Amino acid sequence: MLRVDIFMKLCSANILLSSFFVIVCLLPLALGDLNSDRQALLAFSAAVPHGRKLNWNAASPICTSWIGINCSEDGTSVIGVRLPGVGLTGPIPNGTLGKLDSLKVLSLRSNLLSGNLPSDILSLPSLSYLFLQHNNFTGDIPTMISPQLAVLDLSFNSLTGSIPPTIQNLTQLTALSLNNNSLSGSIPDLGFTRLRRVNLSYNHLNGTIPSSLQKFPSSSFVGNSLCGPPLSPCSSVLPPSPSPSPRAFPPPSGAPQTQSSKKKLALGAIIAIAAGGAVLLFLVVLVLFICCFKRKESDGAPTVPKVKSSGAGRSEKPGEEFGSGVQEPEKNKLVFFEGCAYNFDLEDLLRASAEVLGKGSFGTGYKAILEESTTVVVKRLKEVIVGKKDFELQMEMIGRVGQHPNVVPLRAYYYSKDEKLLVYDYYPSGSLAALLHGNRTAGRTPLDWDSRVRISLGAARGIAHLHAAGGARFTHGNIKSSNVLLNQDVEACVSDFGLAPLMNSPASSSRHTGYRAPEVIETRKHTHKSDVYSFGVMLLEMLTGKQPIQSPGRDDIVDLPRWVQSVVREEWTAEVFDIELMRFQNIEEEMVQMLQIAMACVAKVPDARPNMDEVVRMIEEVRPSDSENRPSSEENKSKE
Ligand SMILES: *[C@@H]1O[C@H](CO)[C@@H](O)[C@H](O)[C@H]1NC(C)=O
Ligand SMILES: *[C@@H]1O[C@H](CO)[C@@H](O)[C@H](O)[C@H]1NC(C)=O
Ligand SMILES: *[C@@H]1O[C@H](CO)[C@@H](O)[C@H](O)[C@H]1NC(C)=O
Ligand SMILES: *[C@@H]1O[C@H](CO)[C@@H](O)[C@H](O)[C@H]1NC(C)=O
Repeated sequence: MLRVDIFMKLCSANILLSSFFVIVCLLPLALGDLNSDRQALLAFSAAVPHGRKLNWNAASPICTSWIGINCSEDGTSVIGVRLPGVGLTGPIPNGTLGKLDSLKVLSLRSNLLSGNLPSDILSLPSLSYLFLQHNNFTGDIPTMISPQLAVLDLSFNSLTGSIPPTIQNLTQLTALSLNNNSLSGSIPDLGFTRLRRVNLSYNHLNGTIPSSLQKFPSSSFVGNSLCGPPLSPCSSVLPPSPSPSPRAFPPPSGAPQTQSSKKKLALGAIIAIAAGGAVLLFLVVLVLFICCFKRKESDGAPTVPKVKSSGAGRSEKPGEEFGSGVQEPEKNKLVFFEGCAYNFDLEDLLRASAEVLGKGSFGTGYKAILEESTTVVVKRLKEVIVGKKDFELQMEMIGRVGQHPNVVPLRAYYYSKDEKLLVYDYYPSGSLAALLHGNRTAGRTPLDWDSRVRISLGAARGIAHLHAAGGARFTHGNIKSSNVLLNQDVEACVSDFGLAPLMNSPASSSRHTGYRAPEVIETRKHTHKSDVYSFGVMLLEMLTGKQPIQSPGRDDIVDLPRWVQSVVREEWTAEVFDIELMRFQNIEEEMVQMLQIAMACVAKVPDARPNMDEVVRMIEEVRPSDSENRPSSEENKSKE
């Protein structure tokens, strides 16, 4: 016994010791990785001029504050760089982005990049998604390409040379876009089963289209000197002459000899179709039977716990489903708004891997990652009380008024009896709520005063726009800090507006009553002035760092307006402000000014509140410099 005991002790000491060593050894390794990634990114931003400012500051945390950067979950390496349309100009030197050893996603589309494609980037071993379309890259496509690539988009550049035969080794490829370049030579045989989208149009390619690609539409190949299905048949004379011989065209349909052969064929075809149909019917019944049986089975017995789906489980069924109420025959009724750049359909959406973002007062939000790493937010509405016609009218309204730099536009919607879905852009930088309240522990970067003022001003402008464009009866109806999202430039955009009239008003026990104007709690009617009240509460939240909601485990709802009033009345003004703001210099006066604006917004009587235009003007006066810069920065935006 004793021996065993000692043995056990030794063992556990050993385990402790060895795990200690593992931790000690791994720690510098991990930090070293992120450090070298930081060096690589800084070298890139120093070497490549860019129109729009990147906030890549060596001193700030790369994973949480650098624009366009995503890190691995453990924060030890950079896995995503997304800088679309930021005015990057000129060549990318080797030894910059090509040093990001763990990079999975690189998007530099719609910039002004030129020169050769950086070969060290294309050969990064883990690179899966590469978007370099709409630049002006020249020269050949490098032969060394990452075998992990799932999406390769080099379209709309000035690439020359032939398509490298090594592309045949990319077994993971699902989408290949090389259209609108100057590529020449023939098309290698791409016998991948996963390939779902191909575009080689508008190049100088010639020869026959390989049989493996014949299933793609002709628009995948037009604008070349190619022949064979799906384009017109090749002439028998080799090499192909630019003008195909008359024999190449299909015979005129009215020719007599083809008619008789057609008849014979028809009889055979009918028999074949009938037989095929029967087999097909049998198969369908079989599949249905198996499906039902499987479902029954999984209803009964406890199943393997579902893996939380993330980027890795892309093609698998989502762990969280938002489309269970979608009826089979309605699967293509996703209604997109004009000017929307997405090109997925409802089926793609339902196939996407999804992750719950949060449960709001109007429904649950999901982050859905589609193929080609398009990420959107899908909102599943609950308790919609209006009919289809009214729903569509309101959607049109939301789509129409949503066109403003400080508003999150609605991209698409779906309506059926059992399911109502809204599709929005995904904002990876998160919300004002997350910046104010997220992870208030040591090591977190507090939201600085300048950003707070800028975000407040952006949100105010967004709401003022909704009021102006939507008319007297159109309100936001759900203003709160978690509905103020930040785009890549840390500009505020208001989301989730215009839904209140569709919904069964949430009960007053909702977590978010803290934002609601007193008259809304009584009458349940939203007005422009009730939006102003909610905005005022949000300003108070920004100033105090306190959340106007019931905190879990405590019973008291923080009524921010009343609390602030009581503190200010006692002349403890300084006590009101967020402790995290105390470290910034020379901002007291501006903070007091913002506090006054907020207090005006939360006046009890609606008529005593300013309207949203006035609020915008008042905030602009807090920061005269911001509003002076404004027109020029807007000009730049509209030029892009
Ligand atoms: C692309 O680059 C080529 C050669 O460097 C140049 O002649 C051409 O004007 C550029 N095109 C654009 C759109 O910048
Ligand atoms: C594909 O990869 C294998 C092994 O890496 C290599 O030997 C072969 O040459 C490659 N094929 C092409 C067409 O590059
Ligand atoms: C792609 O190239 C074709 C042929 O040159 C041209 O007609 C088409 O407009 C191009 N598309 C774009 C978006 O530039
Ligand atoms: C390929 O690109 C061309 C040019 O932009 C476009 O007209 C065509 O529709 C695209 N084809 C496919 C299948 O995406």
